[in-house]
Amino acid sequence: MTHPYMIVLGNEKGGTGKSTIAMHIIVSLLQKGFKVGSIDIDARQGTLSRYIENRHLRSQNLDASLLIPEHLPIFPSQDPNKHVAHEQDKSSLQQAFEKFKNCHYVVIDTPGNDTFLSRTAHSYANTLITPLNDSFIDLDVLVRVNHDINELKPSIYAESVWEYRKQRAMRGEKKAIDWIVLRNRLSSLNSKNKEEVKKILKALSKRIGYRLISGFGERVIFRELFLTGLTLLDAASSKNSFSLSHVAARQELNELMAVMNIEQDTLIAGNQ
Ligand SMILES: Nc1ncnc2c1ncn2[C@@H]1O[C@H](COP(=O)(O)OP(=O)(O)OP(=O)(O)O)[C@@H](O)[C@H]1O
Ligand SMILES: [Mg+2]
Repeated sequence: MTHPYMIVLGNEKGGTGKSTIAMHIIVSLLQKGFKVGSIDIDARQGTLSRYIENRHLRSQNLDASLLIPEHLPIFPSQDPNKHVAHEQDKSSLQQAFEKFKNCHYVVIDTPGNDTFLSRTAHSYANTLITPLNDSFIDLDVLVRVNHDINELKPSIYAESVWEYRKQRAMRGEKKAIDWIVLRNRLSSLNSKNKEEVKKILKALSKRIGYRLISGFGERVIFRELFLTGLTLLDAASSKNSFSLSHVAARQELNELMAVMNIEQDTLIAGNQ
C-alpha cells in the first residue's frame, strides 16, 4: 500500500492565501495525473470546500473536462468534554486518511487560528506550506520582532512546528517536515518595508528551519477565480482569459511545485 504524501497549508494568521494556494496545488497535481484527496479542516469557513463545490457546478454546466479532487470537510468536535472532543477529532482525521489511502497526495487546508484539529493535521505534514503577506504583522507569526530588529525570537507558531517535528519523529516517521514559507500578494512596488521583511525572512530560514521562496504577486485574477471554481491552470486553456499577468502567475505556481520537489518521491513510492 502506498502512503499518501501529505501537504498541509498552515499559518495561524487569517487571509494569507492558504485556501487559494491549496486549490492551485491540488489542480496542478491532478493535471499531472496524480490521484489527489483534499481535506478542509477549516470546514466552518469552508473556503476550499466552496471552491471545490463551485468547480463541480462549472463541471456540470460548462466544462465536463475539469479535474476535481475527492474532497472531505472535517468539522471540529462540539463535545464539551475536551478529552472526548480531542479523541473525536483524531478519529475524524484518521477516517479521512483511510478514505484517501490510495491517493498519491492529500492536501489539507487549515484555519487561520489554532485548533486541536489543525495541530493534529500539521503533525502529519510531509510538506508544510506557510504563505505570508509582506508585512511585519504577518512576520509576527514566525518571529517576534521588537524595536531592535536584531533581537528576534521564534513565535508560537514556529515553536509549534518544532513540536510537530518531534511528534512525527516519535511516530517513527523517517523524514522531517519540509517547511516552505512563501510570500504571497507581493506588491510590484519596491518599498523599504518589503525589503526589511525579506531580509529578516532570509536571515531566519536556517535558524527556524524553513525554506523561503518568493511566491505569488498580488493579482486580481485570484479573487475572480474562486466563484468560477477555476484555477490559473484551467484559465490557461481558455483563450479568453489569457493575459501576461496569468502567464506570470502560472510561472510562480510552477516554481512552487518545482521547489516542493515531491513528484519524484511519489512516483517512486507509487511504483513500490
Ligand atoms: N496572490 C494573490 N493576489 C490577490 N489576491 C489574493 C492572492 N492570494 C489570495 N488572494 C485573495 O486573498 C483572500 C484570502 O485568500 P484565502 O482565502 O486563500 O486565504 P486563507 O489564508 O485561506 O484565509 P483564512 O485564514 O481566512 O482561511 C481571498 O480573497 C483571495 O482571493
Ligand atoms: Mg482559508
